[in-house]
Amino acid sequence: MALAGVFTTYVLLPFVIFLTMIPDVASRVGVNWGTMATHQLPPDNVVQMLKENGFDKLKLFDCDEKIMAALIGTHIEVMLAIPNYMLQEMSQDPAAATAWVDENVTSWSYTGGVKIRYVAVGNEPFLQTYNGTYLHVTLPALKNIQHALNRAGLGSHVKATVPFNADIYNSPGSNPVPSAGDFRPDVRDLTIEVVQFLNENDAPFTVNIYPFLSLYGDPNFPLEFAFFDGPKKPITDGDSVYTNAFDANLDTLVWSLDKAGYPDMQIMIGEVGWPTDGDKNANIQNAKRFNQGLIRHALSGNGTPKRKGKNIDVYLFSLIDENAKEIAPGCFERHWGIFEFDGKPKYGLDLMGSEEDKGLAPVEGVRYQLRRWCVLDPEATELSELPGSIEYACSQSDCTALGYGSSCNHLSAEGNASYAFNMYYQLNNQGYWDCDFSGLALVTDKDPSEEDCQFPVMIAYGHSLVLSRNGLSDVLLGIVVGNLLFLLLLS
Ligand SMILES: *[C@@H]1O[C@H](CO)[C@@H](O)[C@H](O)[C@H]1NC(C)=O
Ligand SMILES: *[C@@H]1O[C@H](CO)[C@@H](O)[C@H](O)[C@H]1NC(C)=O
Ligand SMILES: *[C@@H]1O[C@H](CO)[C@@H](O)[C@H](O)[C@H]1NC(C)=O
Repeated sequence: MALAGVFTTYVLLPFVIFLTMIPDVASRVGVNWGTMATHQLPPDNVVQMLKENGFDKLKLFDCDEKIMAALIGTHIEVMLAIPNYMLQEMSQDPAAATAWVDENVTSWSYTGGVKIRYVAVGNEPFLQTYNGTYLHVTLPALKNIQHALNRAGLGSHVKATVPFNADIYNSPGSNPVPSAGDFRPDVRDLTIEVVQFLNENDAPFTVNIYPFLSLYGDPNFPLEFAFFDGPKKPITDGDSVYTNAFDANLDTLVWSLDKAGYPDMQIMIGEVGWPTDGDKNANIQNAKRFNQGLIRHALSGNGTPKRKGKNIDVYLFSLIDENAKEIAPGCFERHWGIFEFDGKPKYGLDLMGSEEDKGLAPVEGVRYQLRRWCVLDPEATELSELPGSIEYACSQSDCTALGYGSSCNHLSAEGNASYAFNMYYQLNNQGYWDCDFSGLALVTDKDPSEEDCQFPVMIAYGHSLVLSRNGLSDVLLGIVVGNLLFLLLLS
């Protein structure tokens, strides 16, 4: 969830979360690549890593020219999203939809170009948090985009879809089984109209499913039910037996579609994953257990109890940590990556779903800033400014690892200060003035990291990154990161 992840779904009934799947012959897993980070790895290096690891499907939250350029000539299939803020315009003005398709799809879709297969129209537009803002623009925008794709001659192999949040359907609390599922009454009619249009165009229904968020949002949620190798006590629903939350969620969607008259609707999981920090259940062990179990299950051909015998099409969330994501939903939002901010894999993952415990190749050729850190001066005595300084440093950087249940939560008050100062210093590219804090801080070349709590040194691709982009025209890109506006001059 890049822009995506900003608001995911937190509202989940006890066991209820539900799902999707897809029939595909030799499918592998896809991955979401969000870019809400202060320091971006060079897209060419990341794409090389995708190829080495065998990721062959990619979902992007907008059409970033540098990333698209890096994908030219690869066999990676791309789902390209239109951000929610553009839906209004796309819905009102078919010409705007046509211009979007021309610039962002057609121009890349030549032989040997980028294999764009899907356009994601908006991201979780029916999320309750949006208060209905996008309810009435989503379907018209979807139609205008698909029609523009058709007019461009791309409609037979580029399909427009809408990634929905899983809170558009549920089962009643009184009967929390998939077969009791249906679309939420306030969005039911609209959702079914969308389904009808997707079905007419042979396009898939896309949904984001997060057992982690169910667990996070409900203290009574049975932990083992979130995983695929877990529970001793399955849930029985008629003849079906559910051993994991993912299948139960997905089949609740299948039942909802069934009741709407679309029992065979193709389903894709647009986002699914597990974070590694920022919450007591967010750690590497759980993330690996969930993601590996998911991949094995999705590619096993077993399907779900209601849709047996089919692979499930999934896009993992997500590729790389994003340190500039909104954390209103929770500190874990910045820690969904399978890879760290610097492209190192956090854990091994076998993307083919076989039993072997395989490693993942890292992003190669990454450049770092100097090996130095900003910490609290151990001799500082005048500490009255300290709380204010920590608060400021954290508000301008990323202290999500300090929170309850997080990797650095055990630090002392002094350790907290050093952590905050260092994050500020690193995110500001180790500027001379960025390690002062009223004289309380100093620069050291001794790594303050502890086993579980890393004090990172940032990569050298911050706010003023200059990239060469193979003949594409120069653009000035404004990127809003939290409260900061950074201008990147790309040449
Ligand atoms: C193409 O996509 C980019 C990135 O999402 C967007 O800024 C731009 O406005 C789009 N082009 C058109 C013509 O809509
Ligand atoms: C939705 O409504 C609530 C309550 O009225 C408000 O606090 C919130 O800011 C609104 N959210 C959006 C995205 O408009
Ligand atoms: C360090 O900071 C975290 C997050 O703000 C807080 O929960 C924790 O109590 C702090 N530790 C100490 C010893 O002050």
